[in-house]
Amino acid sequence: CGGGEKTGETTGEGEQQATTETQNLVFGSDTSYAPFESYDANGKLEGFDVDLIDAINEVSGLNIEMKTYDFKGLIPALETATIDGAISAMTITEERKQKVDFTVPYYKSGLATAVKADNQDIQGYDDLDGKKIGVQTGTTGELEASKVPNAEVVSFDTIDGAFMDLTNGAVDAVVNDFPVTAYYIAQGNDQVKIVGDLQTSEYYGIAIPKQKPEVLEKVNAALETLKENGKYAEIYKKWFSV
Ligand code: ARG
Repeated sequence: CGGGEKTGETTGEGEQQATTETQNLVFGSDTSYAPFESYDANGKLEGFDVDLIDAINEVSGLNIEMKTYDFKGLIPALETATIDGAISAMTITEERKQKVDFTVPYYKSGLATAVKADNQDIQGYDDLDGKKIGVQTGTTGELEASKVPNAEVVSFDTIDGAFMDLTNGAVDAVVNDFPVTAYYIAQGNDQVKIVGDLQTSEYYGIAIPKQKPEVLEKVNAALETLKENGKYAEIYKKWFSV
Protein backbone atom coordinates (compact mmCIF):
# COMPACT_ATOMS: atom_id res chain seq x y z
CA CYS A 1 0.00 0.00 0.00
CA GLY A 2 2.68 2.45 1.11
CA GLY A 3 4.62 1.74 -2.07
CA GLY A 4 1.65 2.83 -4.18
CA GLU A 5 1.54 6.20 -2.47
CA LYS A 6 5.18 6.79 -3.17
CA THR A 7 4.67 6.08 -6.86
CA GLY A 8 1.96 8.76 -6.88
CA GLU A 9 4.34 11.31 -5.41
CA THR A 10 6.94 10.59 -8.04
CA THR A 11 4.43 11.17 -10.85
CA GLY A 12 3.50 14.49 -9.23
CA GLU A 13 7.10 15.68 -9.38
CA GLY A 14 7.33 14.71 -13.02
CA GLU A 15 4.29 16.77 -13.89
CA GLN A 16 5.69 19.79 -12.11
CA GLN A 17 8.87 19.52 -14.12
CA ALA A 18 6.90 19.46 -17.39
CA THR A 19 5.05 22.69 -16.49
CA THR A 20 8.26 24.61 -16.03
CA GLU A 21 9.47 23.51 -19.46
CA THR A 22 6.53 24.80 -21.53
CA GLN A 23 4.50 27.79 -20.49
CA ASN A 24 0.87 27.74 -21.66
CA LEU A 25 -0.35 31.21 -22.59
CA VAL A 26 -3.51 32.69 -24.11
CA PHE A 27 -3.23 35.57 -26.58
CA GLY A 28 -6.40 37.43 -27.62
CA SER A 29 -7.16 38.32 -31.23
CA ASP A 30 -10.04 39.67 -33.29
CA THR A 31 -10.02 36.77 -35.72
CA SER A 32 -11.94 38.46 -38.53
CA TYR A 33 -9.03 40.31 -40.08
CA ALA A 34 -7.60 38.46 -43.06
CA PRO A 35 -4.82 38.02 -44.04
CA PHE A 36 -3.62 38.41 -40.43
CA GLU A 37 -6.17 36.26 -38.60
CA SER A 38 -9.34 34.64 -39.91
CA TYR A 39 -11.08 31.29 -40.13
CA ASP A 40 -10.81 29.36 -43.39
CA ALA A 41 -13.68 27.42 -44.99
CA ASN A 42 -12.98 24.44 -42.71
CA GLY A 43 -13.08 26.54 -39.54
CA LYS A 44 -9.31 26.53 -39.13
CA LEU A 45 -7.58 29.68 -37.90
CA GLU A 46 -5.10 31.01 -40.46
CA GLY A 47 -3.08 34.08 -41.34
CA PHE A 48 0.20 35.91 -40.95
CA ASP A 49 -0.24 36.42 -37.19
CA VAL A 50 -1.28 32.78 -36.76
CA ASP A 51 1.85 31.51 -38.54
CA LEU A 52 3.95 33.92 -36.53
CA ILE A 53 2.57 32.55 -33.24
CA ASP A 54 3.20 28.96 -34.41
CA ALA A 55 6.79 29.92 -35.23
CA ILE A 56 7.24 31.70 -31.88
CA ASN A 57 6.02 28.54 -30.15
CA GLU A 58 8.59 26.50 -32.04
CA VAL A 59 11.61 28.58 -31.00
CA SER A 60 10.60 29.55 -27.45
CA GLY A 61 9.54 27.60 -24.39
CA LEU A 62 6.09 29.06 -24.86
CA ASN A 63 2.86 27.37 -25.90
CA ILE A 64 0.67 30.27 -27.00
CA GLU A 65 -2.92 29.62 -27.96
CA MET A 66 -4.96 32.30 -29.78
CA LYS A 67 -8.42 33.11 -28.46
CA THR A 68 -11.06 35.25 -30.18
CA TYR A 69 -11.91 38.61 -28.62
CA ASP A 70 -13.64 41.76 -29.83
CA PHE A 71 -10.87 44.11 -30.94
CA LYS A 72 -12.09 46.79 -28.54
CA GLY A 73 -11.94 44.27 -25.68
CA LEU A 74 -8.25 43.46 -26.11
CA ILE A 75 -6.66 46.41 -24.29
CA PRO A 76 -9.00 46.09 -21.25
CA ALA A 77 -8.28 42.33 -21.08
CA LEU A 78 -4.54 43.03 -21.27
CA GLU A 79 -4.74 45.70 -18.55
CA THR A 80 -6.24 43.22 -16.12
CA ALA A 81 -3.91 40.45 -17.40
CA THR A 82 -6.98 38.32 -18.18
CA ILE A 83 -5.01 37.33 -21.28
CA ASP A 84 -1.24 36.91 -21.53
CA GLY A 85 -0.93 38.88 -24.75
CA ALA A 86 -2.70 40.04 -27.90
CA ILE A 87 -1.75 39.52 -31.53
CA SER A 88 -4.28 41.21 -33.76
CA ALA A 89 -2.58 43.36 -36.41
CA MET A 90 -2.40 45.86 -33.57
CA THR A 91 -0.68 49.17 -34.19
CA ILE A 92 1.86 50.35 -31.65
CA THR A 93 0.59 53.77 -30.50
CA GLU A 94 1.68 56.14 -27.73
CA GLU A 95 -1.81 55.99 -26.21
CA ARG A 96 -1.81 52.19 -26.04
CA LYS A 97 1.73 52.17 -24.67
CA GLN A 98 0.41 53.90 -21.54
CA LYS A 99 -1.68 50.78 -20.87
CA VAL A 100 0.25 47.82 -22.31
CA ASP A 101 3.73 46.86 -23.46
CA PHE A 102 4.56 46.08 -27.08
CA THR A 103 7.15 43.79 -28.59
CA VAL A 104 9.48 45.05 -31.28
CA PRO A 105 7.53 45.96 -34.45
CA TYR A 106 6.79 42.98 -36.72
CA TYR A 107 4.90 44.54 -39.63
CA LYS A 108 4.75 47.96 -41.34
CA SER A 109 1.26 49.08 -42.24
CA GLY A 110 -0.81 52.22 -42.78
CA LEU A 111 -4.39 53.38 -43.26
CA ALA A 112 -6.03 53.32 -46.68
CA THR A 113 -9.27 54.91 -47.83
CA ALA A 114 -11.61 52.65 -49.81
CA VAL A 115 -14.71 53.63 -51.80
CA LYS A 116 -17.04 51.98 -54.32
CA ALA A 117 -15.22 51.32 -57.61
CA ASP A 118 -17.57 53.65 -59.51
CA ASN A 119 -17.10 56.57 -57.08
CA GLN A 120 -15.51 59.54 -58.89
CA ASP A 121 -16.08 62.02 -56.10
CA ILE A 122 -13.73 60.75 -53.36
CA GLN A 123 -10.10 60.58 -54.52
CA GLY A 124 -8.57 60.04 -51.10
CA TYR A 125 -8.76 60.70 -47.35
CA ASP A 126 -8.75 64.49 -47.95
CA ASP A 127 -12.10 64.26 -49.76
CA LEU A 128 -13.93 62.67 -46.82
CA ASP A 129 -15.22 65.97 -45.41
CA GLY A 130 -18.95 65.58 -44.70
CA LYS A 131 -19.03 61.92 -45.76
CA LYS A 132 -20.19 58.77 -44.00
CA ILE A 133 -17.15 56.69 -43.03
CA GLY A 134 -17.24 53.04 -41.95
CA VAL A 135 -14.56 51.85 -39.49
CA GLN A 136 -13.91 49.14 -36.91
CA THR A 137 -14.49 50.10 -33.27
CA GLY A 138 -11.38 50.82 -31.24
CA THR A 139 -8.98 50.94 -34.19
CA THR A 140 -6.60 53.56 -35.53
CA GLY A 141 -8.96 53.78 -38.52
CA GLU A 142 -11.73 54.94 -36.20
CA LEU A 143 -9.40 57.49 -34.62
CA GLU A 144 -8.28 58.86 -37.99
CA ALA A 145 -11.84 59.01 -39.38
CA SER A 146 -12.97 60.95 -36.28
CA LYS A 147 -10.56 63.75 -37.28
CA VAL A 148 -12.35 64.41 -40.58
CA PRO A 149 -14.45 67.60 -40.40
CA ASN A 150 -18.24 67.13 -40.63
CA ALA A 151 -17.92 63.41 -41.27
CA GLU A 152 -20.27 60.85 -39.77
CA VAL A 153 -18.26 57.91 -38.43
CA VAL A 154 -20.08 54.58 -38.37
CA SER A 155 -18.28 52.02 -36.18
CA PHE A 156 -18.60 48.24 -36.53
CA ASP A 157 -17.45 45.42 -34.24
CA THR A 158 -15.64 43.79 -37.17
CA ILE A 159 -14.31 45.29 -40.41
CA ASP A 160 -16.62 42.99 -42.43
CA GLY A 161 -19.60 45.09 -41.32
CA ALA A 162 -17.96 48.24 -42.67
CA PHE A 163 -17.17 46.57 -46.02
CA MET A 164 -20.73 45.29 -46.26
CA ASP A 165 -22.14 48.77 -45.72
CA LEU A 166 -19.72 50.20 -48.27
CA THR A 167 -20.83 47.64 -50.84
CA ASN A 168 -24.52 48.35 -50.32
CA GLY A 169 -23.99 52.12 -50.23
CA ALA A 170 -24.83 52.73 -46.56
CA VAL A 171 -21.42 54.38 -46.04
CA ASP A 172 -19.35 56.38 -48.57
CA ALA A 173 -15.92 55.12 -47.54
CA VAL A 174 -14.01 52.75 -45.26
CA VAL A 175 -10.81 53.79 -43.48
CA ASN A 176 -8.84 50.67 -42.57
CA ASP A 177 -5.39 49.06 -42.62
CA PHE A 178 -4.10 48.91 -46.20
CA PRO A 179 -3.04 45.21 -46.29
CA VAL A 180 -6.45 44.10 -45.04
CA THR A 181 -8.47 46.24 -47.45
CA ALA A 182 -6.17 45.25 -50.34
CA TYR A 183 -6.63 41.56 -49.44
CA TYR A 184 -10.42 42.00 -49.28
CA ILE A 185 -10.44 43.49 -52.79
CA ALA A 186 -8.10 40.80 -54.11
CA GLN A 187 -10.51 38.12 -52.83
CA GLY A 188 -12.88 39.11 -55.65
CA ASN A 189 -14.54 42.17 -54.12
CA ASP A 190 -13.70 44.38 -57.07
CA GLN A 191 -16.75 46.58 -56.56
CA VAL A 192 -14.46 48.31 -54.02
CA LYS A 193 -11.26 50.28 -54.74
CA ILE A 194 -8.52 52.02 -52.73
CA VAL A 195 -8.06 55.73 -53.44
CA GLY A 196 -5.22 58.17 -52.68
CA ASP A 197 -2.10 57.73 -50.58
CA LEU A 198 -1.85 55.97 -47.24
CA GLN A 199 -3.00 58.36 -44.54
CA THR A 200 -0.65 57.04 -41.82
CA SER A 201 2.37 54.85 -41.43
CA GLU A 202 1.97 52.34 -38.59
CA TYR A 203 3.81 49.40 -37.08
CA TYR A 204 2.19 46.32 -35.63
CA GLY A 205 3.42 44.89 -32.35
CA ILE A 206 2.33 42.04 -30.11
CA ALA A 207 0.81 43.57 -26.97
CA ILE A 208 1.73 42.13 -23.55
CA PRO A 209 0.35 43.05 -20.12
CA LYS A 210 2.66 45.37 -18.20
CA GLN A 211 2.47 42.78 -15.40
CA LYS A 212 4.21 40.16 -17.57
CA PRO A 213 7.68 41.46 -18.50
CA GLU A 214 9.02 37.89 -18.66
CA VAL A 215 6.55 37.08 -21.47
CA LEU A 216 7.56 40.25 -23.33
CA GLU A 217 11.20 39.26 -23.08
CA LYS A 218 10.59 35.73 -24.38
CA VAL A 219 8.42 36.86 -27.31
CA ASN A 220 10.93 39.55 -28.29
CA ALA A 221 13.74 37.01 -28.21
CA ALA A 222 11.68 34.64 -30.36
CA LEU A 223 10.91 37.39 -32.91
CA GLU A 224 14.61 38.15 -33.15
CA THR A 225 15.42 34.48 -33.77
CA LEU A 226 12.76 34.24 -36.49
CA LYS A 227 14.12 37.34 -38.24
CA GLU A 228 17.62 35.87 -38.13
CA ASN A 229 16.81 32.31 -39.19
CA GLY A 230 14.70 33.31 -42.21
CA LYS A 231 11.41 31.99 -40.85
CA TYR A 232 9.92 35.49 -40.58
CA ALA A 233 10.77 36.19 -44.24
CA GLU A 234 9.21 32.87 -45.23
CA ILE A 235 5.93 33.69 -43.46
CA TYR A 236 5.92 37.20 -44.93
CA LYS A 237 6.37 35.81 -48.43
CA LYS A 238 3.59 33.27 -47.93
CA TRP A 239 1.01 35.97 -47.16
CA PHE A 240 2.30 39.01 -49.02
CA SER A 241 4.15 37.81 -52.11
CA VAL A 242 3.20 39.99 -55.06
N1 ARG B 1 -4.05 48.25 -36.90
C1 ARG B 1 -5.30 48.79 -36.46
C2 ARG B 1 -5.24 49.13 -35.00
O1 ARG B 1 -4.38 48.64 -34.32
C3 ARG B 1 -6.46 47.86 -36.72
C4 ARG B 1 -6.29 46.49 -36.16
C5 ARG B 1 -7.54 45.66 -36.22
N2 ARG B 1 -7.23 44.30 -35.97
C6 ARG B 1 -8.11 43.28 -36.02
N3 ARG B 1 -7.69 42.06 -35.84
N4 ARG B 1 -9.37 43.54 -36.24
O2 ARG B 1 -6.03 49.85 -34.48
